[in-house]
Amino acid sequence: MTPESHQVRLQKVSKSYGSHAVLIDADLTITAGEFIVIVGRSGSGKSTLLNLIGGLDYPSGGTIEVLGESLAALTEEQRSQLRCRALGFVFQFFNLIPTLTVAENIRLPMALNGKSRAEAEARTGSLLADLDMSGCGDRFPEELSGGEQQRIAIARAMAHQPAIVLADEPTGNLDLDTARDVVALLDRSCRAQGTTLVMATHSHEVIGIADRVLTIRDARLEETVR
Ligand SMILES: Nc1ncnc2c1ncn2[C@@H]1O[C@H](COP(=O)(O)OP(=O)(O)OP(=O)(O)O)[C@@H](O)[C@H]1O
Ligand SMILES: [Mg+2]
Repeated sequence: MTPESHQVRLQKVSKSYGSHAVLIDADLTITAGEFIVIVGRSGSGKSTLLNLIGGLDYPSGGTIEVLGESLAALTEEQRSQLRCRALGFVFQFFNLIPTLTVAENIRLPMALNGKSRAEAEARTGSLLADLDMSGCGDRFPEELSGGEQQRIAIARAMAHQPAIVLADEPTGNLDLDTARDVVALLDRSCRAQGTTLVMATHSHEVIGIADRVLTIRDARLEETVR
């Protein structure tokens, strides 16, 4: 295995809030293109783990490498550049920018990565077509259903072809059928682009299609053997 294929590596990562240990000595290596699911009861530390990998929070101990870069060695600006270039985020409450249209939301990560307007427009058009949402580009997020907003959020997360997508309970706010469609879309899009997908979820169906399942229990991250 080449070092570059280790997209994420956690070694002895701990995270505490005051005296509350959320993670203790977590070790995890994620290879390019894997679909990893993180499960655990509410409050077990799933979002904390995703935030650590995304460089949005700092570990109390241990090291985190993303795409070969040790996060602790980066300045805040370098972390932000790494996030902007290499990561895509999908959240439970979609987090689309309400004052931007659907097309503007999708174009944003491409604009931030210096893509030309013409290139960004072409890719937005093809992403909307893939989602079966051509014609929705000029609408605002509040004019879409929850499931539609989440499809747009996935398009935005994938627009700049990030190496890694971090999804925190992306189906937590959707009905069962819509949730199934959204997970299938994420899975298909990531596999088509070779994108690594790390998803925190409570959904048992997702567990069935992931490559690996990790459980956080009593602050320990364990691989679930299936
Ligand atoms: N900024 C913070 N300050 C203090 N405690 C925090 C902070 N963020 C999270 N916690 C605590 O850390 C623990 C893990 O929280 P986290 O949000 O990671 O859980 P989770 O597994 O994502 O839960 P859920 O399934 O409800 O989303 C919780 O006990 C939470 O209260
Ligand atoms: Mg959470």
